[in-house]
Order: sequence, then C-alpha cells, then structure tokens
Amino acid sequence: MTNAYTGKVAEAQKCKAPRASAAGNAPEFSEGQGIKEIEQIRQRLNLMYEVSRTAASSQQLSQLIKQITLMTQCALNASASSVLLVDKDGDLIFEVADGQVGKQLRRAKLGAQSGVAGWVASHGKAVVVNDVNQDQRFSTLIDTVTGFTTKSIICAPLVAHERVIGVIEVLNKLDGANFSDHDLETLMSVAATVAMNINNTRLHQTILDSYKTTIRVLAATVDARDPYAYGHSQRVSEYALLAANSMPLPRDEREVIETAAALHDIGKAYIPESILVKRGPLTDEEWKTMRKHPVIGSNILKSIPFLEKTSKLVLYHHERYDGRGYPDGLKGETIPVGSRLIAVADAFDTMTTNHSYQGASTVDEAIERLHRFARIQFCPLAVQAFVAGFARFRVPARSYVTASGTPTG
Ligand SMILES: [Fe+2]
Repeated sequence: MTNAYTGKVAEAQKCKAPRASAAGNAPEFSEGQGIKEIEQIRQRLNLMYEVSRTAASSQQLSQLIKQITLMTQCALNASASSVLLVDKDGDLIFEVADGQVGKQLRRAKLGAQSGVAGWVASHGKAVVVNDVNQDQRFSTLIDTVTGFTTKSIICAPLVAHERVIGVIEVLNKLDGANFSDHDLETLMSVAATVAMNINNTRLHQTILDSYKTTIRVLAATVDARDPYAYGHSQRVSEYALLAANSMPLPRDEREVIETAAALHDIGKAYIPESILVKRGPLTDEEWKTMRKHPVIGSNILKSIPFLEKTSKLVLYHHERYDGRGYPDGLKGETIPVGSRLIAVADAFDTMTTNHSYQGASTVDEAIERLHRFARIQFCPLAVQAFVAGFARFRVPARSYVTASGTPTG
C-alpha cells in the first residue's frame, strides 16, 4: 500500500516499534487487559528510551525531529506524521513532512488557527480525533494539496517555557483502529522531548550566532589598523572555508578552520603600527617583530574558552610546506591541515588585493602562483582544495592589476 502522505510504500508497516535494551529480555505478553497495559507502557518506555538516545546523538535539529517523528509514527502503527513549528508571525510551518508528497509540504505555511494542528497550537492542549469528518476543527486544505485522505489524528503541542512552539501530529492507524488514550500519552511524552531539544538547539544557535558576531568584530578590529587590510580577515575566512569544504573534513573541524582563518592575524594587534603600515620593505629587525604575530595571536586565543584548537591553527599559519616557515619550521603534513588551508587562503587574498608594497594580481595570476609554489610554500592538497572550492562557488574577482613579487602571507 502506497502512503500518499509520505510517498513511501507502507514504510510504517516495515518498521518495528523500538524494542531497546531498556526493556531487557522482558517476555512478550499476549492476553489480559492488565498485561496489555503493561505491554503498552513498556512500548512507550522503549520509545522514550530510543527518542532520548536519538536526541543525545543527533547534531542536526531537523534530522533529529525527522527521526523522532518517524519513530513515533512507527511505534503508534500510523501511516503519517508531521511536526509543525510556530513562526515569528504565529503561523504554523511544516518542519518535517517526508517523501514525495512531503516535499510539497516542506516549509508550507498554515494559518495560526487552521485545522486540528492550529487548534492544538492555540489552546496548548493535546487531542484525539478518530473521525475527522465529525470534527469541525479539521481542515481539508492539506489533504486537497497532497491528495492524502486523513481519517484520524492525534496531535500534541510542543511546549517550551510555558509557550507553544509547535505541534506534533500522527495520522491514520494502519489497521484502521482508533487512536487510544495510551497513544496520546505516548505522543505527549515524545512532544516534551522534541520541544526541549528544539529549545536547547535554538538557545545554542543564539549563543553561537553571538559568538560568531564577536569573532567577526574582533577580526575587523585587527584589519582596521591597516587600510590595505580592510576585509582581509573576513575574506581569508571565506576562502579557507571554501577550501575546507572541498576536503573530507568533519563539520566541527571546518568550523574551527573558518574561525581560525578569521582570527589568523589577531596577534598583529600587538605589532607597532609603524611596522604594520610601513610603505616599502621591512628591515630585518622589523621582520623579527612582525614574525611574532602567530605566537602572540595563538596565546591570546588559548585563554578564550572553546578556542584552543583555533589557537593551534593560528600558531602555524605561516609555516611553509618546505619547512622554511615560522615560528617552528614545521614541514609538510606535520603542519595542521587547517593551517595549511589558511596559508593558501591568506596568500590568495594578499595577492589579489592592493598593498603598500605591491599591486594586486588577477585571480588567474594568483592561482597560477599558488600552483607554482605548491610543495615549496604551500601544501599541494591545500592548493588543490582551494582552487576546486573557489571554482565551485565562483567567488567574484575584485582586482585585475598586473602582478609583481612573490606571494606573501
Ligand atoms: Fe599572518
């Protein structure tokens, strides 16, 4: 039987209600009302165990909600399920709606008062509707759009800090039976976990956003001291991320690279302005001072929570593949991959931007020089990753002035 709502062939029939280790080797009960109730509670506990295990292991909120919703649908032997979240206007948006028909519903908007979901959201109460044709709250709108026929619904509000942030709903028992009070209690338990996770993730995202803003401000503060460095940190961060996204690196590592690239020159805040903005070549003594900035930057970042990994990448952003860089003269793959990517991104931006000591190169010239200095100054893999990432996202060129000099960071 094809499920019109999810577009899948009776997927819920194929899946089993979770039977996790929380229940151990409990016997299968087959008869008696008391035993049936125990079995229902046991199944609910199993589901809750699986839901919390999934919540604990999941990184992506949308993925988490999708998994939990499908698990609940399976556990309740239903043919469809969805989660709708309240948006800033108070309307309900489909967050999870799976399969071919689900794609139509993804991000679809429902009025705040629309249908059973709207009623549950506005009243903050869970409901069981076993015959939608007999219930005035039911709206045929979604069925008309999807071609799905809703017969019965159970729906529970997602409540966080006494505020309804959405609803979870499960539709149509596969065997045509009515949804029971036990089903509703199960759904309410799941709703509590989903709401808590949505709230935590949103809070985490708010902190992360504010954290990223602070880092951008910090990086811009360093750039502001040198008129030629305007926007340099931000661009290096974007270039390094383009390169990192072309490599098989875990998401958290790519985020560290992005942050480290934005802050790679933070140590320059402690370099005298006379050196930083000097027109013409630096003296040996001035170079000696300038070359301290990776260590200074790394030490600044080490003292900030969560930036330990970032500080290491900043420390090594001037190491060279041939071992002739600074501060430690690391060679080849002993240089952290993030630092090798930042070195390429830094050099590319330096080459394609006007400076007091040289004019800007064209993009093609800069890329040609990255290739030419691969295995010497730059890691060949890092050059390859940057060039691939740059080509894929087609970052617009900013300068087309004749090149001069060798790439510097
Ligand atoms: Fe630097």
